[in-house]
Amino acid sequence: MDRLLPAHLQEPERKLSSHFSRSDQLNLMASLMKNILLEVDSVTLQYKTPTALVTATERVSFSVNKSDRFVLLGPSGCGKSTLLKAVGGYLAPSEGRISINGRKVTEPGADRMMVFQEFDQLLPWKSVLQNVMFPLQVARKMSRAQAEERARCYIEKVHLTQFAASLPHTLSGGMKQRVAIARGMAMEPDILLMDEPFAALDALTRRQMQDELLQLWEGTRFTVLFVTHSIAEAIKVGNRILLLTPHPGRVKAEVRDVDQVNAADGSATQLENEINNLLFSEPGHKE
Ligand SMILES: Nc1ncnc2c1ncn2[C@@H]1O[C@H](COP(=O)(O)OP(=O)(O)OP(=O)(O)O)[C@@H](O)[C@H]1O
Ligand SMILES: [Mg+2]
Repeated sequence: MDRLLPAHLQEPERKLSSHFSRSDQLNLMASLMKNILLEVDSVTLQYKTPTALVTATERVSFSVNKSDRFVLLGPSGCGKSTLLKAVGGYLAPSEGRISINGRKVTEPGADRMMVFQEFDQLLPWKSVLQNVMFPLQVARKMSRAQAEERARCYIEKVHLTQFAASLPHTLSGGMKQRVAIARGMAMEPDILLMDEPFAALDALTRRQMQDELLQLWEGTRFTVLFVTHSIAEAIKVGNRILLLTPHPGRVKAEVRDVDQVNAADGSATQLENEINNLLFSEPGHKE
């Protein structure tokens, strides 16, 4: 099926980008020409432990365009969180290059905001409003008044206006995740990095949050890099999906035009089956 682009067919694009990777200026031009916001070029990520060198991902390449809802999908341990951390600037590649708008990523920055899976990513002593305002004042150097106006706008987008003065421990898991999403979006980053943000929610809330994320996206068309190990969630949330092999993570295939499938005519189920077959055809795979 032509929506599925096997990894080997992505080679020419990767080679082209590495050809341009000599200077930031050329990279920027290349990115602009290809409308690329984020480029991950042949990236190997490793952890050094006292006893071993663990390779989390091996020569992974992909590029994310502005307004993409780009999903990294793969089994547990394939390096999805590690990739997201590297894009966030928290981990340097041992090989390859990551660039945003043609500039090499070397450290965390306000152009990339992260939303984690855990519910306890908010400052517990600050209210919902203060949690969303905090990075605006610190990283964006906004005045109190400007930060409050911006924060209230995004708190409204995630339907939490009534809870602006509440402390995190009085909110449900789903509400806390909404605050974390509002906080990330309020920064208006170039890209929002979401690491399994809905995985710890019950099935019903998870579906609601997926719908809300898509509604938010319709409103602002922000770019999101979304990690999940749920095939159904990847199909629902993404317009492009990168399939990664089990540990160490390598690119297995890319699925494009995901938003053209739908549940009503069975095409979403068909795609789910195809992805399932591709992912689990790997020998020795375990979820
Ligand atoms: N701090 C660390 N030190 C050593 N190895 C690590 C560290 N963090 C992760 N790893 C290893 O790197 C590999 C990739 O881990 P990672 O957390 O990125 O996987 P993942 O795809 O996000 O998995 P999951 O779906 O379970 O969240 C795993 O083999 C893991 O054991
Ligand atoms: Mg993970």
